[in-house]
Amino acid sequence: MYEKFYGFKEKPFNLTPDSKFFYASPKHEEALNTLLLAISERNGFVVVTGEIGSGKTTVCRTLLNRLDPSTKVALILNTHLNKKELLTAILDDLDIEYKTKSKSHLLGALNKYLIEQAHNDVNVVLIIDEAQNLTPSVIEEVRMLSNLETEKEKLIQIVLIGQPELRKKLSNPNLEQFRQRVVFHYHLQPLDYIETGEYIKHRLAKAGNKRGDIFSQPAIEEIYKYSKGVPRLINLACHNALISGLVYESKTIYRAIAEEAIIELTDGIGHVFHADKKKQIQKLEQAEEAAPKQFMLSDTKFLSYLNGDEEKEKNQIIKTDQWEENNG
Ligand SMILES: Nc1ncnc2c1ncn2[C@@H]1O[C@H](COP(=O)(O)OP(=O)(O)O)[C@@H](O)[C@H]1O
Ligand SMILES: [Mg+2]
Repeated sequence: MYEKFYGFKEKPFNLTPDSKFFYASPKHEEALNTLLLAISERNGFVVVTGEIGSGKTTVCRTLLNRLDPSTKVALILNTHLNKKELLTAILDDLDIEYKTKSKSHLLGALNKYLIEQAHNDVNVVLIIDEAQNLTPSVIEEVRMLSNLETEKEKLIQIVLIGQPELRKKLSNPNLEQFRQRVVFHYHLQPLDYIETGEYIKHRLAKAGNKRGDIFSQPAIEEIYKYSKGVPRLINLACHNALISGLVYESKTIYRAIAEEAIIELTDGIGHVFHADKKKQIQKLEQAEEAAPKQFMLSDTKFLSYLNGDEEKEKNQIIKTDQWEENNG
């Protein structure tokens, strides 16, 4: 809808975890490297946790592209499964044939396949996304799969990805044996303020706009305050802000536009066109362009502001408001 207006080849802030848009923040890169290392070492479980929208599935999709092409992967995305459904899902994903659905037959077929693969030096990985939905007894079943091993190494590497509840679930006393097998646990943190700006610019460039400064720095501050660096929320705010920019025919997203888009997002009202607001935004544009530095909170101040240093927060807000009053 706004692609042409801003010169994008496609929408830059889709909510699908598309590895083409992957921004290798130090956190995402570390998660990825942890997974790659654990998989190549072939010695046990890896658990990756993170809040909703922090980029777990995106890391997982990027991982699939970076694994050695000979690696065989079973990727389980539907986790409302019982033990047998899980087993058949794994076999189906690896294209392993089975004659009956008796558990011992399914396990036998999997074991035979894994031994063949190990013989050909092929690494097999089981990745379970949204693993926080697995019941403790299914998690225990997953642990049993990791018992399939030769004298030297595990026959199957297992990665569990899930929301923070997964961690809680794994602390269940019945899963002590599972916990002992976890060699890496990586918790994916949200982006910081600087990374948020870089993330936005990265996605804009990937969508085909090389300008890089569609979002003014003050607008990025607003987006960071709202999203706290969670990519999913950054995307929602940026997408909405781009729609608002189109509505106001502004090719730059200024703070006022981002702010309004975020209010609409949190109110759930949708886009409302304010005729007066357009004039106001034009004034703000001029003001922001004339003195972008003054308009911004400096990084350190901004960080203490976010860390709840209220006195500073008040001062900063008063300053910005006064500045707007004087200049608007
Ligand atoms: N490192 C990243 N680079 C690019 N986009 C990302 C990154 N991390 C998250 N996203 C985007 O944020 C949104 C949520 O990411 P997703 O991987 O689905 O999160 P999760 O699986 O943790 O809930 C998606 O639109 C995804 O494209
Ligand atoms: Mg996900």
